[in-house]
Amino acid sequence: MHVLPLESERAACSWSERPRLRPVGVLGTGSAVPPRVLDNADLSQLVDTSDEWIVTRTGIRERRVVTGQATSDLAIAAARAALAAAHLDASAIELILVATCTPDQLCPPVVCRVQAAIGATRAAGFDVSAACSGFMNAWMTGHRLVGAGSFNNCLVIGADVMSSITDYQKRDLCVLFGDAAGAAVLGEVPGGSVILDHIVGIDGNGADIIVAPAGGSRRPASAATVAGREHFLQMNGKEVFKFAVQKLPEVVRSLLARNGYGIDDLALLVPHQANLRILEAGAARLGLPMERVMVNVDRYGNTASGSVPLALDEAARSGRIQRGDLVALVSFGGGLSWAGSLVRW
Ligand code: UT7
Repeated sequence: MHVLPLESERAACSWSERPRLRPVGVLGTGSAVPPRVLDNADLSQLVDTSDEWIVTRTGIRERRVVTGQATSDLAIAAARAALAAAHLDASAIELILVATCTPDQLCPPVVCRVQAAIGATRAAGFDVSAACSGFMNAWMTGHRLVGAGSFNNCLVIGADVMSSITDYQKRDLCVLFGDAAGAAVLGEVPGGSVILDHIVGIDGNGADIIVAPAGGSRRPASAATVAGREHFLQMNGKEVFKFAVQKLPEVVRSLLARNGYGIDDLALLVPHQANLRILEAGAARLGLPMERVMVNVDRYGNTASGSVPLALDEAARSGRIQRGDLVALVSFGGGLSWAGSLVRW
């Protein structure tokens, strides 16, 4: 096995004791969104809101929502696009990870539907649940398992049908969310991209700040929970906002510093697309101009696990990321959870 020290290990002595991994990068990315557009005018027919309020407070103009599709349907489409970009047949994939907080069913894991549909007959797999930081946690897990030599590659997918747990009677919530999936194939990329480092964390004291109260083992689905609309998400938006505005710059700053970089070295930040105001406030605290922040929240809203890989795929396909660029990914959300990753593209 070809083994190199991580860039982060060379840069910061506190990381020098970490096991050495072979270099792993991104072989290809893909994404999928459903065709149906739900714009701000549509929402103003459902709840007491306006395009002006939504754009000013969130930057969101429209989002995509499924008509009868499940999370696995979006995940499968994104997976196929990523495999095509990586020029890999599904039969070559050894590990699949699906991050989601809206699985098709509580059991089986979504990954099983994906594996069967794409024909990844050799692949092992499991689902990862970490709300809006799900994809980033799956990405870290895939990177480390491939880096350690347990698998030769990993198809990492983030997919959510947030419309299935969104209450379209609650105006502060229904304007935010949309449905999407994104995927990345990780493996050795000779002479190409290398994933450098990760930061992940949770603060379980914030577990009730974003919560779907019913439908799990605490309050199994019943006629009463459905009548009380308890299977839909509930959120303290202000608390999430404060947390995100503080965590986004903190994670990015730590990632850069412990790898020996400054903000000027960063070619592009690809953040979780929750709210344009969060992205602008986070970027301002970092001293990072918005030209170096990937933004597509205006077109898709907050797509939870789908958000970071959808933004990454758009950035890669549109040429916003060039070979050799230093790229940071960052997410924050329910749990409370946060995650960041640094990639030399
Ligand atoms: O992945 C993480 C998931 N969550 C998030 O990212 C959410 C983070 N939080 C946010 O994005 C913002 O807190 C929201 C967009 C949810 C809310 O924005 P805000 O600036 O914090 O508004 P607010 O909650 O302070 O509400 C201000 C007013 C209230 O009216 P009153 O009490 O002042 O009369 C709300 O009832 O705006 C009202 N309001 C709305 N008005 C029109 C709330 N939602 C709407 C709406 N349309 N859709």
